[in-house]
Amino acid sequence: MDKLKLVALSGSLRNLSYNHAALQALKNLSVKVADIDILTLGNVPIFNPDREQDAIPAVKSLKSHLNAANGLIISSPEYAHEISGVMKNTLDWLVSGEEFVNMPIMLINTSPRATHAQQMLREVIVTMSGNIIEKSYVAIPLLGTSLDVQGIMTDSQLSGLLKTGLDEFCIAINDLLRCDSPQPLISN
Ligand SMILES: Cc1cc2nc3c(=O)[nH]c(=O)nc-3n(C[C@H](O)[C@H](O)[C@H](O)COP(=O)(O)O)c2cc1C
Repeated sequence: MDKLKLVALSGSLRNLSYNHAALQALKNLSVKVADIDILTLGNVPIFNPDREQDAIPAVKSLKSHLNAANGLIISSPEYAHEISGVMKNTLDWLVSGEEFVNMPIMLINTSPRATHAQQMLREVIVTMSGNIIEKSYVAIPLLGTSLDVQGIMTDSQLSGLLKTGLDEFCIAINDLLRCDSPQPLISN
């Protein structure tokens, strides 16, 4: 079976971001089963509906990566009980397009106490007709651990949770792809 093409978005721009580290660790752990492209969101401009038809390179790149992807992975922090502005801003650029509709989505939460943002993120994704794959949800307590990419990868429990989540995600995507492919014609 071909490797799946996945896009990953981190809702944090912080240098030592746990969310980015979790995505990078997942990418490194999964090279045999999936190609994960972690996109940079720091250059996505503030959303303005008046600019939706403009050829903004960061937005065009985001949309073309999503068009070519089998699934999307989102790992995003909570700020003041809400979705990070970086993540919400990015999603706002995708609301009126087709790239997000029915997209299989794996969610990672690096701070399981941060329940408000997770709930809001889910609400936004469902409103945008994304397809959250519940079995692939991963909650890993990274906040306060000082773990970096290598530390996450060498922690058997954390890396195991990430790998299990991705395996479930790949199974779900492959099931969806099988359902979408045309059935062979039965000839008499
Ligand atoms: C301005 C600010 C507000 C925050 N608000 C919350 C919050 O409401 N709830 C929570 O659980 N964590 C909150 N945090 C903690 C962040 O979610 C946490 O530091 C997270 O690891 C940041 O993600 P990152 O490591 O990927 O940058 C806040 C952090 C900052 C800087």
